Amino acid sequence: MTDHSLLFEPIRMGDLTLPNRVLMAPLTRNRSQGDGTPREWAETYYRQRASAGLIFSEATQISDMGKGYLDTPGIYTQAHVDGWKKVVDAVHAGGGRIFCQLWHVGRISHVSLLPEGKQPVSASAIQADAQTYTANGFEQVSEPVALDADGIAKTIADFHTAAECAKRAGFDGIEVHAANGYLLDQFLQDGVNKRDDNYGGSIENRMRLLSEVLDTVSQVYPEERIGVRLSPLGQAGDISDSNPEKLFSAVYQKLSERDLAYLHVVEAFPGSDGDSEAQALIRRLREQYDGFYIANGGYDAESAVSEIDGWNIDAVTFGRSFIANPDLPERYRRDAKLNKPDQDTFYGGDEKGYTDYPFLDDRH
Ligand SMILES: Cc1cc2nc3c(=O)[nH]c(=O)nc-3n(C[C@H](O)[C@H](O)[C@H](O)COP(=O)(O)O)c2cc1C
Repeated sequence: MTDHSLLFEPIRMGDLTLPNRVLMAPLTRNRSQGDGTPREWAETYYRQRASAGLIFSEATQISDMGKGYLDTPGIYTQAHVDGWKKVVDAVHAGGGRIFCQLWHVGRISHVSLLPEGKQPVSASAIQADAQTYTANGFEQVSEPVALDADGIAKTIADFHTAAECAKRAGFDGIEVHAANGYLLDQFLQDGVNKRDDNYGGSIENRMRLLSEVLDTVSQVYPEERIGVRLSPLGQAGDISDSNPEKLFSAVYQKLSERDLAYLHVVEAFPGSDGDSEAQALIRRLREQYDGFYIANGGYDAESAVSEIDGWNIDAVTFGRSFIANPDLPERYRRDAKLNKPDQDTFYGGDEKGYTDYPFLDDRH
């Protein structure tokens, strides 16, 4: 039996002690009510996974303009707070901890998902070659408009409100979603950010929106309860940068100046495993961040143990394996067989493929 005990050494992250390093990745499941309030199923789903060292909620939009897919949850109304509070309480009752992933999709949206059929917003008016899921199935995302100064101020204020709502719901912390080609990533990367004001051009300027968002949410949560998610390989949402290493070195260094809980990095996307050049870049970048580092993408228990042991990562988030294995830590502890995730039920639907994956000792 492979020794996975390293995964079960408790670790300090900010002022929290995580009982293990098997963390649950943020996973959009498109099962919320139309207004963005989580359904009761979500309480069961998250409580079932409370043995994770830490749970990251599915991406949760900070405003109605931040929405980009059908039936994703929000965190900006009283109904959202009430719905999420039940989820958070269920996780806490199960002995777990949960951070809320705060999300604005930017240009990865469709007019049919936005209030009064508005166009999505972005750093610049450049339509993505990407699809989203609407009431009519998969559709090309709509053409965006560039945020003006008022729009940027409003977006920052929306992040503040969302952080307050997350706090009222009892979330242990928040994750600012700056990965996967969504709004904050659209400002970072110059394939999309063509602005000529102080939010575009130089790397310093392109990092400004992320910095201002962190400034505002840290008025609500202490920095040691705030983390950031980045995806420097830029493989989602038609995002690109002319010099990713230069950009992300600067971002990692800038984030190191704060006392954040962690940096959470999508190191590989499904299908990209084994790209050694990309992995070398990820490791060079890691050296630029001074703080708690959470790795994600294509890990299993073996690679998590060997990477935690072999170089400088602190914990790992598991995505698809947590969908299919509510008791993933226990399975890793016992080196037990894993359930296989059913891709057909990842996005949307009901409790099938959501709350019905079996536990090892199926008592739940
Ligand atoms: C069904 C599904 C939904 C996802 N939703 C999100 C999300 O809401 N926010 C996010 O940052 N990443 C999301 N991701 C990416 C995962 O967090 C993770 O980066 C990816 O699954 C790779 O990790 P894994 O190899 O352990 O599955 C999603 C992935 C999947 C498969």
